[in-house]
Amino acid sequence: MGVKLGILGLGTVGTGTVQLLQDSTGRHPLLQEIEIYRVGVRSLDKPRAVELSTEVLTTDLESIVNDPAVDIVVEVMGGLEPARSLILKALSNGKHVVTANKAAIARFGAEIFTTANQAGVYVMLEAAVGGGIPVIQPLKQSLSVNRIHTVTGIINGTTNYILTRMQTEGSNFNDVLADAQRLGYAEADPTADIDGLDAADKIAILASLGFGGRINLQDVYTEGIRQVSKTDIAYAEKLGFVIKLLAIAKRDTPSSPLSVRVHPTLVPQAHPLASINGVYNAILVEGEPIGQVMFFGPGAGAGATASAVTSDILNLVAVLKTNTAVTNPLLTCGHQEYCQIAPMADLITRFYARFLTNDQPGVIGKLGTCFGNYGVSLESIVQTGFQGELAEIVVVTHDVPEGNFRQALAEIRNFSAIESIPSLLRVL
Ligand code: NAP
Ligand code: HSE
Repeated sequence: MGVKLGILGLGTVGTGTVQLLQDSTGRHPLLQEIEIYRVGVRSLDKPRAVELSTEVLTTDLESIVNDPAVDIVVEVMGGLEPARSLILKALSNGKHVVTANKAAIARFGAEIFTTANQAGVYVMLEAAVGGGIPVIQPLKQSLSVNRIHTVTGIINGTTNYILTRMQTEGSNFNDVLADAQRLGYAEADPTADIDGLDAADKIAILASLGFGGRINLQDVYTEGIRQVSKTDIAYAEKLGFVIKLLAIAKRDTPSSPLSVRVHPTLVPQAHPLASINGVYNAILVEGEPIGQVMFFGPGAGAGATASAVTSDILNLVAVLKTNTAVTNPLLTCGHQEYCQIAPMADLITRFYARFLTNDQPGVIGKLGTCFGNYGVSLESIVQTGFQGELAEIVVVTHDVPEGNFRQALAEIRNFSAIESIPSLLRVL
């Protein structure tokens, strides 16, 4: 007997998944056991790229999650509601769920996984982070015997595309964003991508799996790329860096608090993440004893995401076929405790700062002295040129506590010679 799918959504991801399932030749034989039983959409009149009979398509999504014949619900509609309620209802009705919805998982993961565990069913989310890149199952299974130190990712394709083009063409942020929207890489409302919110959802999910605890999304420090200028990209290049929007989860020892953050970062040109360009994603996992492992691939798109969604479906088909009553701990998210998150002031990192100052003697000396007074050691301090009448000074620090750096900066802002501090970026 076939395994019956109820798919919620037939947009980019839903359509890619149906196409993959309808063309199973040469793929895993278990795919042939899957029946696309119901598909829920908003509008029945919309032209579709896949052929489905009229009995399969419906606008009544509740009827799918309540249908006793449905074995697996595939939520690829996106958004918070009604996606959250439909997922919860499907789980309560004893159905396994596959979802690509990082926004819902990052916000409602606690109640979703609690409901799943109580019902003895699984929630699978390989497509929620990194599109087609297999990273969720590796963190749950293949890498789970390691003591994870850091998970560092370029996990938003839109921002990586924009930063890459700014880097290669010397273009302005606003010009590249407009072009990315025209080409369909960036959404009409790009806020979630540009302001780092999409990457924050994703790193919250990765951190939760890598470090075995729930993450409160509000604790994830989040800064987007709106303030990254072509001037900083050019300076970074001269100094041997590229600027990337990194999502980082890091824990020094198993008993230390976790640091989870998203911000534009100067990445050394020789670092493995520095060469990840365009819409591609990559996730670098560092653990003990394995060392470094990097996952690279397409972070979005119909085919890539369908690959991840369908691999989750396949795992569940295997579970249903073996008919085991015992929940497999390597497929569930069993942790209930929240991770303790370190305040940003305690973060130890390097900084890059660009100052516009009046061109007068002693400014560089005063900057150096002030940083020194707060224990901020400088790797370099250079006057790089002029913007009109103002001198441009660029500072790169050694590793310092963020709190100390901020205190020094607060004092420096009041120096009469300082006109402005247009950029402040962290350095990997
Ligand atoms: P999409 O193209 O906008 O498609 C959404 C689908 O859901 C449409 O078929 C829509 O119906 C249906 N839908 C939405 N709200 C509905 C409602 N209230 N009632 C009934 N149907 C509803 O979205 P997508 O790009 O496929 O993304 C889906 C999910 O995958 C999101 O959570 C997204 O974050 C995630 N994801 C996407 C990508 C990607 O590359 N696109 C990659 C990774 C993860 P109609 O067709 O009738 O409008
Ligand atoms: N908006 C996301 C990105 C799509 O740009 O990476 C995949 O989650």
